[in-house]
Amino acid sequence: QTGMFTYDPGFLSTSACQSAITYIDGDKGELLYRGYPIEQLATNCDYLDTCFLLLKGDLPSATESADFHKLVAQHTMVNEQMQFFLRGFRRDAHPMAILTGLVGGMSAFYHDSTDINNPEHREIAAIRLIAKMPTLVAMAYKYKVGQPYMYPQNNLSYAGNFMRMMFGTPCEEYVVNPVIERALDRIFILHADHEQNASTSTVRLCASSGTNPFAAISAGVACLWGPAHGGANEACLNMLETIQAQGGVAKVGEFMEQVKDKSSGVKLMGFGHRVYKNYDPRAKLMQETCDEVLKELGLENDPLFKLAKALEKIALEDDYFVSRKLYPNVDFYSGIVQRAIGIPVNLFTGVFALARTVGWIAQLNEMIGDPEYKIGRPRQLFTGSERRDVKPR
Ligand code: SDX
Repeated sequence: QTGMFTYDPGFLSTSACQSAITYIDGDKGELLYRGYPIEQLATNCDYLDTCFLLLKGDLPSATESADFHKLVAQHTMVNEQMQFFLRGFRRDAHPMAILTGLVGGMSAFYHDSTDINNPEHREIAAIRLIAKMPTLVAMAYKYKVGQPYMYPQNNLSYAGNFMRMMFGTPCEEYVVNPVIERALDRIFILHADHEQNASTSTVRLCASSGTNPFAAISAGVACLWGPAHGGANEACLNMLETIQAQGGVAKVGEFMEQVKDKSSGVKLMGFGHRVYKNYDPRAKLMQETCDEVLKELGLENDPLFKLAKALEKIALEDDYFVSRKLYPNVDFYSGIVQRAIGIPVNLFTGVFALARTVGWIAQLNEMIGDPEYKIGRPRQLFTGSERRDVKPR
């Protein structure tokens, strides 16, 4: 029994951890950041206030919020040397390969001045990572499209700055669309943290060795890339585009039969979850955001959005999915809205990593801040050979 939560004794195995940051009730489809429902945060707060909440445990006062926004803005630039790091990559390298390298490369600039066991060092590392991720993701994009990097502009909001670094050029004034800015900020909130998912567990295990936070976060970026995890939004959009190319909504029934034939190995990307056995609350908010953005951009008739809604309708009525408690997850609509905004498919997971950085660093700091923490060491059930002797040949 911990507070209002009860767990059966078997739940907390040696590999589980205790955390006060994010709570998920998979059966109810409930997600709380430090006790606040995701629906309320996505509606009433901005991403940086949510970062403050995840890092410090409470929402900021007006003064604390203003100070935090200003502090993050002052750390958005990256060392000028970082641009030469990118030159080692081919222009067609996957942005997640570039981002994994760039985040790990940050260690080279801050490793010597970061003692992970010093709370102040952890605090400034968190600010640097949150502040610089949008700059690094935008640099990975600009490198691929052959455009000059855009320096951050501190008079813009966090999301507005990212939009300008992504889509602006030195040739003309970039005007931030407030509807898109708000939608992106909400997308960041929805992806900010999610308890002990694969990439967060990776960050915790990596950091438990005492390595610097930048190296640990780069491990999280690498894990998130996988299609079963953060790469699902890219895989989901590719799935929708494939069905669209084969005939669109008219082909949905045929595609669903393929998914239900397990031998096909075809999954309905963006559906299902290791924890949610009900509707992922983020998916509902993502669909609403998708609606808003498509309306703002005059894309209400986007065929992929219609296709996604048709797939969802069929899945929610089909016993194969209902009996397996498969519902849309955060990735199902996020690709459609990011594509509408102009973010390339292979950068969707980079946006996910940008937003999840605060969750990773908050969870890392929580673990390292516990004086009782030790290096992680998951055990195994050995299923190999019994002891045996080498026989001379
Ligand atoms: C994220 O953990 C997190 O919190 C992650 C995340 C976060 O914010 O960090 O929420 C982000 O990673 C969301 C998940 C994104 N992944 C995808 O959308 C990829 C598609 N989803 C599947 O790969 C799958 O649903 C998983 C990997 C997410 C979960 O797989 P499980 O654990 O096998 O799911 P399950 O045990 O609930 O499956 C029950 C059944 C199985 O079939 P049976 O053995 O009962 O016959 O449903 C099947 C599964 O094979 N199934 C699917 C399916 N997901 C599960 N069948 C078709 N399509 C799917 N998407």
